Amino acid sequence: MANENYIISLKGVSKVFDGVTVVDDINLNITKGEFVTFLGPSGCGKTTTLRMIAGFETPTNGQITLNGQDITTIPPHKRPINTVFQRYALFPHLDVYDNIAFGLKLKRIPYQTKNRKGETVIKTRKLSRQEIDEKVMRVLKIIDLEDLENRDISTLSGGQQQRVAIARAIVNEPEILLLDEPLGALDLKMRKDMQLELKDMHKKLGITFIYVTHDQEEALTMSDTIVVMKQGTIQQVGTPIDIYNEPVNAYVANFIGESNILNGLITDKLKVKLLNHIYDCVDDFPINERVDVVIRPEDVIIIPASNKEMDLVKGTITDKIFKGIHYQYVIQSGKHEIVAQSTKDYEVNSEVYVDVEKENIQIMKKEVKKNVFNDAYIDKNNNVMISESPFEVDVTQLLKGSHVDEELYLIGKDGKKYDLRDADVIAEIEIKDVNIVDGHDNGNVNATVVNSIYKGDHYAVLVRTDEEDDFILDTQDVWNDGDAVSIIVKPENISLTLKGDISKYEVE
Ligand SMILES: Nc1ncnc2c1ncn2[C@@H]1O[C@H](COP(=O)(O)OP(=O)(O)O)[C@@H](O)[C@H]1O
Ligand SMILES: [Mg+2]
Repeated sequence: MANENYIISLKGVSKVFDGVTVVDDINLNITKGEFVTFLGPSGCGKTTTLRMIAGFETPTNGQITLNGQDITTIPPHKRPINTVFQRYALFPHLDVYDNIAFGLKLKRIPYQTKNRKGETVIKTRKLSRQEIDEKVMRVLKIIDLEDLENRDISTLSGGQQQRVAIARAIVNEPEILLLDEPLGALDLKMRKDMQLELKDMHKKLGITFIYVTHDQEEALTMSDTIVVMKQGTIQQVGTPIDIYNEPVNAYVANFIGESNILNGLITDKLKVKLLNHIYDCVDDFPINERVDVVIRPEDVIIIPASNKEMDLVKGTITDKIFKGIHYQYVIQSGKHEIVAQSTKDYEVNSEVYVDVEKENIQIMKKEVKKNVFNDAYIDKNNNVMISESPFEVDVTQLLKGSHVDEELYLIGKDGKKYDLRDADVIAEIEIKDVNIVDGHDNGNVNATVVNSIYKGDHYAVLVRTDEEDDFILDTQDVWNDGDAVSIIVKPENISLTLKGDISKYEVE
């Protein structure tokens, strides 16, 4: 049943380019008048999805409806949709007014008339000068460039040019405005201003905005609904608050702001063990279940360690950055790093206790279809450390088109240089890509078989490393609990996600 409030629905939409699935079976409903944002890293399929909604690409599979009508194969100019791109193609030889009026001058609108025989027929006509003038003046007001109508495009700032590009899209009075990273080319200050202005325009126009960005802050500031994407799939759909406070998995938590993403073990009813400490929690999970735990830096409570011993996690402050209103600290506790924020000033190297209110411990079901390691990191040789064992993973996967130079720096295709050594990553390995062999020291990591379940045609085996990390795998072989094994994973089967943005690792 089509819901009349849904202006756009994507049903099982996929797009395959040259045998590669870049949008994978997306189902999504967009409500009329909403400000929806597709958020995800570069290459995850945001633009392709938007282009299918606009009609510039045809889905390989699935259906797109507009107000309940199938538009899957309708060409772009027949959809009541306009798009604003990052690189706004304005006409440099025309002034602001003529740039905005350009499309209107070509436009023909239908009208009813009678022919010689007296029959009613539909004909089309051009817009009158006055009609064009009214429309242009109306959008100039909305984009706040009323005084600049006669200015040459070349004399405008980047932000003003982008506003003209938006004006050109909204002057056609589309029902939906698509915006593909429209602020990407602007500097930070301009971008912040334009975010607020776009939000304001959305309110004034009352139409549906579908916005694409890889910038989580931008998504959180502007959207009614955020669609978090990863490798062509939707991970979570929700309001900014939902997504920030209740991320459904470690990927979303990592993408939405700085987070501590930790491995946990449910030891008892409403008790979770993390950082080698047992905390009370509010999420009810089965006892003995391995879970992912998210703690936001602003929820970490720092208590200076005095002489009095406390039953809390203890650590040392190893890093401190002033962020304007608060300090951001890194606290090292054993092999774990905890990111914390506080307005209080503590010295680097001071010993502190770390506490968290139970409401602020967000527990998520571990993905069962994959092995996910939240505390992997890159070592000084550019190897990826999983469960404290090195894997020779190609780190260029973290940045499209990059290479590693002889000094082990990662070089982007724009020439920017990154030092990823010590960077925290999330490592993911498909179940099918994990193998075990008998005995220790015969593979990448030593482990012990903890559990083996017969699944009809294979065994699902759980093995645990000395570092208490679990790997799950499928095998035809029979293993017994307590068997000593070595885990083998080919480096090319390990996929990495950087914790935090890559810009944090940029060096001069
Ligand atoms: N016309 C195309 N032909 C082949 N591959 C494409 C084409 N357009 C996009 N891709 C690929 O599809 C993937 C998703 O791209 P895109 O939708 O642009 O991602 P995003 O906008 O999230 O950065 C990328 O790997 C990209 O290289
Ligand atoms: Mg894109």
